[in-house]
Amino acid sequence: MEVIKRPRRLRYNTTVREMVRETCLDVKDLIYPLFVAHGENIKQEIDSMPGVYRYSIDRLPEEVKEIRELGIPAVLLFGVPASKDEFGSEAYSDDGIVQRAVRVIKEAEPSLVVITDVCLCAYTSHGHCGVVRNGRIENDETVKLIARTALSHVKAGADMVAPSDMMDGRVRGIRQLLDGEGFSHVPVMAYSAKYASSFYGPFREAAHSAPMFGDRRSYQMDPANSNEAMREIELDILEGADIIMVKPALAYLDVIRRAKDRFGVPLAAYNVSGEYSMIKAAASMGFLDEKTSVLEALTSIKRAGADLIITYHAKEVARWLTTR
Ligand code: PBG
Repeated sequence: MEVIKRPRRLRYNTTVREMVRETCLDVKDLIYPLFVAHGENIKQEIDSMPGVYRYSIDRLPEEVKEIRELGIPAVLLFGVPASKDEFGSEAYSDDGIVQRAVRVIKEAEPSLVVITDVCLCAYTSHGHCGVVRNGRIENDETVKLIARTALSHVKAGADMVAPSDMMDGRVRGIRQLLDGEGFSHVPVMAYSAKYASSFYGPFREAAHSAPMFGDRRSYQMDPANSNEAMREIELDILEGADIIMVKPALAYLDVIRRAKDRFGVPLAAYNVSGEYSMIKAAASMGFLDEKTSVLEALTSIKRAGADLIITYHAKEVARWLTTR
């Protein structure tokens, strides 16, 4: 047998493999989610997400200093409010948990890009992402509150807002309000193709945001659909989204690739809580090697076409990438 083509020639040693490597993870691609809660001197680990914590505001400066020192450029902020009500009013209160946290972070680490998750689910008594009337989530009324929430985050100093509610027209609603208030320079990162996924389970424990009745399938997308994701993304771009997002990431790599090929705009992928917990759990049982599994998973997300990866692994990955 005469073998003519020998792809193995370029797998010969580490140096050669690195020379022909097509995808390289970079700490600058990473966005680290941060949970902020009321109280004092709190750094409380989330049971289902080992290594991820809820912080009280006074503990944020030390945490964001470490994040910045690791070279991570941005955080995505989630608030755990003191009280919930029907309309999620702490979400858009100037003195809400996220608004206060943003002011403290921007003061402590001005160069850290602060992105805020804009949603109502952690703030509403019923746990849905919008206003509920007769058991239905009211779209247009919700959009007004979502836009108001985004504006209050930006007024507090947020560098970017990320609506995750999946109401129709919310990017446009946010854009119009921000532009009218003199914030036309603030970008919107839209959770454009956000699926109704089981992989959000651990997050809902972290943010206390599980719905009290029903589920989110009347606003989040059906995991079976990919053409619909293209339509959602196109709408968000037309409405003024600067960065689009696919969420979750690992079970939706095909959607990431399609979106990248089709739209070519900056694309973020959310490596969600359940994806994090799966690897953590398997690694703690000795079933998987944590470092190589995480690096492989994140590399595959980037290879699929993501420019940015929102991930709870960000701090560990930053350490691994700099000490390689
Ligand atoms: C809020 C929101 C959720 C996540 C991000 N923003 C939860 C949900 O939609 O139920 C999930 C993030 C994760 O699982 O890591 N709407």
